[in-house]
Amino acid sequence: MISIQNLSMIYPGNVTALDDVSLEIEAGKFIALQGPSGSGKSTLLSTLSGLVRPTSGSVKIDGTSLYEISPAERSVLRAENIGMIFQNFHLLPYLNVLENITLPSVAKNLPLDHYASEAKSLIDQLELGHRISHHPAKLSAGECQRVAFARAIISQPKLLLADEPTGNLDNKNTEILINLFKDYAKQGNTVIMVTHADADANQADQVINIADGKLITS
Ligand SMILES: Nc1ncnc2c1ncn2[C@@H]1O[C@H](COP(=O)(O)OP(=O)(O)OP(=O)(O)O)[C@@H](O)[C@H]1O
Ligand SMILES: [Mg+2]
Repeated sequence: MISIQNLSMIYPGNVTALDDVSLEIEAGKFIALQGPSGSGKSTLLSTLSGLVRPTSGSVKIDGTSLYEISPAERSVLRAENIGMIFQNFHLLPYLNVLENITLPSVAKNLPLDHYASEAKSLIDQLELGHRISHHPAKLSAGECQRVAFARAIISQPKLLLADEPTGNLDNKNTEILINLFKDYAKQGNTVIMVTHADADANQADQVINIADGKLITS
């Protein structure tokens, strides 16, 4: 469902972050992406997310080429198909847990409470019920990451991208998050997780290694 063809990214200053990357990823897979610092992991996720246009090459999601459609069409495609999670959560500090989770409705021009019932059931499932009206500053790292996970999947995107999501979590919260990723992939979605930890990567269906912007096939 995700087809990456000859993707290259050269940043200003002639920094090659991705060097002719090609890859096909089937739906239903949980993929771990590993590689040294500066190898191009975040750049690959950014180009897959539709946020950063590569210098050349294509990214197709279910046959639609992300960078051959208009910016407005790309925004719609992103809002409907792509969720993102980061190491530092990127929650909005002035919104509470429920509001942070329902926020993706705004990108779809829907009212903020559009996903309220889905959000409440996710909040229960993720054991955040007692935190529903709290702001992120009052939450633990594990709770923040579960809120970020709920926000990323609230509209059931086919592609979930996570950039070092376990970097700030202890072992218990890492295990909870990885199990959520496994389950989300089993529902027929694609999950791509960047990680530095072998123990986390080994729980994925497939590990992809990257070095100097090139995929290493093992
Ligand atoms: N906006 C940018 N402008 C210029 N160069 C950049 C930019 N973003 C990243 N780079 C460079 O591109 C290369 C790949 O960076 P990237 O952030 O993708 O690596 P990474 O694998 O995610 O590293 P880390 O593990 O440290 O997060 C690096 O050499 C980096 O310095
Ligand atoms: Mg990175």
